[in-house]
Amino acid sequence: MRLLVCGGAGFIGSNFVRVRLRDHGDEVVVLDKLTYAGRRENLAGLDVEFVHAGIEDPGAVAGAIEGADAVVNFAAETHVDRSIAEPDAFVTTHAVGTWVLLEAARQAGVRYLQVSTDEVYGSIEEGSFTERSPLAPSSPYSATKAGADLLVASYFHTYDLPTVICRGSNNYGPRQYPEKLIPLMILNALHGDPLPVYGDGLQVRNWLYVEDFARGIGHVLAHGVAGEAYNVGGPDECPNLEVVRRIIELTGADESLLTYVKDRPGHDRRYSLGSEKVRALGWEAQVRFADGLEETVAWYQDNRAWWEPIRSGDYRAYYARQYGSAIKD
Ligand code: NAD
Ligand code: TYD
Repeated sequence: MRLLVCGGAGFIGSNFVRVRLRDHGDEVVVLDKLTYAGRRENLAGLDVEFVHAGIEDPGAVAGAIEGADAVVNFAAETHVDRSIAEPDAFVTTHAVGTWVLLEAARQAGVRYLQVSTDEVYGSIEEGSFTERSPLAPSSPYSATKAGADLLVASYFHTYDLPTVICRGSNNYGPRQYPEKLIPLMILNALHGDPLPVYGDGLQVRNWLYVEDFARGIGHVLAHGVAGEAYNVGGPDECPNLEVVRRIIELTGADESLLTYVKDRPGHDRRYSLGSEKVRALGWEAQVRFADGLEETVAWYQDNRAWWEPIRSGDYRAYYARQYGSAIKD
């Protein structure tokens, strides 16, 4: 297949491209705006065509989609805390960008897969969300992602565009930008910086190893029914505090680094996805959280060259704004 992968220079997109080249021999065109989170280095050594553009740019998208069999859209602003501080780019990329891509797919008659998130369902105290659960997003991030999902569904209902939506739970693994919980805690632990736990730290996330999500997206692309959404949830859930304690053990950091800080406004308590529908397509998560976390810590320990330029760059200013303290050199 020839795939147009939007947002393919980010964390999950670049892992997806790797899996597609390795296991499927696809031809891949990556279109990416290279925001603070997108990096050409994430695609180093991979044989892909690269277009540097935003998904909200109709000319660039029309050129990049030529000859593609399918579009897979990862392009997004992805950090909840940034969406609370500055929602602008979330609205542009998720609403306008998704619309531009859908129009291009409609003109070209190309299949469309939207990468979405469990956060569109909101928080759940007990049990798990199914694809029939109502959308009840709480942050500007999840609200604009939910808006994008509805736009995608409208292109199926209105124009018969063959669309599918894949809603993943919290991903972790190599090449995740260190604003997210797991890589942030790993790098802080390695540097002896405080480990900032929001609120009581008892919020629960459903952890999914990034290659498992990449394979799940592949299953939905190959076997998903047009017009449908598919949840792709991780095999294990874990409260944040336990995640941080495990990272302390794995890195050998000092327990006293654990620091309770002010809670995130509107913080969702628990996410949980039921994934029976994608399992029926033949997908199963392969990596348990305990093993994946150990591998992820080892990856960050072994790949300083990947994160050093991030930690010494604009990230420092972001960190100071978000946490009101500086990280060590
Ligand atoms: P990321 O922040 O690492 O990467 C996002 C990529 O999109 C970057 O390469 C960035 O440059 C690019 N991008 C941003 N705006 C763009 C635009 N307007 N046009 C083109 N490219 C643009 O994010 P990620 O964690 O890899 O997430 C990828 C997708 O998966 C997102 O749609 C996200 O909502 C979804 N998702 C993420 C998680 C998670 O835990 N990280 C879980 C479920 C779903
Ligand atoms: P995050 O990785 O931002 O993902 P999401 O909010 O999309 O689930 O956060 C995961 C959990 O970790 C969430 O409950 C917020 C919490 N958290 C902290 O306690 N401290 C931090 O510094 C960060 C970034 C997150």
